[in-house]
Amino acid sequence: MNVLMINGSPHEKGCTYTALREVATSLKKQGIESEILWIGKGAIHGCNACGSCKTTGVCIFTEDLVNEASAKAKACDALVLGSPVYYASMNGSMSAFLDRLFRVISKHMALKPGASVVSCRRGGASATFDQLNKYFTISQMPVVSSTYWNSVHGNTPEEVLQDLEGLQVMRNLGSNLAWLLQCIEAGKANGVALPEREKPIATNFIR
Ligand SMILES: Cc1cc2nc3c(=O)[nH]c(=O)nc-3n(C[C@H](O)[C@H](O)[C@H](O)COP(=O)(O)O)c2cc1C
Repeated sequence: MNVLMINGSPHEKGCTYTALREVATSLKKQGIESEILWIGKGAIHGCNACGSCKTTGVCIFTEDLVNEASAKAKACDALVLGSPVYYASMNGSMSAFLDRLFRVISKHMALKPGASVVSCRRGGASATFDQLNKYFTISQMPVVSSTYWNSVHGNTPEEVLQDLEGLQVMRNLGSNLAWLLQCIEAGKANGVALPEREKPIATNFIR
């Protein structure tokens, strides 16, 4: 089993990474591999709603890692999103990245567990956590929780390491995710059927 984690921070090894690494260590203890994919520091184009990904399955913008992340997300067993808090929201690059990524992967992620992790200096953590979880809940992804809303506090990785409760929440998140992945495997092995799907209805306005 393999978990893809996306670090949306401009800091490759910053606070968000420190939180994700704690989740990864906990997963590893349960025998589950993970990869932290960093979205980088460069410009990330927002979705321009061209719709071409609907026919091609890939995003037309190729100068960032969205298409690489989408291939990895389709192949993974679970997805963890990590973002720093900017003005009580996820950072702009991560928002642009996820809008384009989910436009491509959403229909491939049904019933794969998802979890969010945020890092802030002081405030806006739970609003950002809610924002990230919205990508899962429109994609039929079970959302994995922990013993608090999944956040760490700090402006530097060293400060995050002093947030003992935050780090424990990350470890518990890793354990809960590992448990759910094992339950899904056991269900598959024992022939638990996937839920039946109705033909999609798209109603763009209320009549
Ligand atoms: C533009 C900007 C806006 C920020 N806004 C907030 C905020 O609203 N609340 C907060 O607690 N921290 C805020 N911060 C601090 C970061 O969220 C915090 O330092 C975070 O842990 C950095 O994670 P990173 O090292 O992974 O980038 C902001 C930082 C920047 C650069």
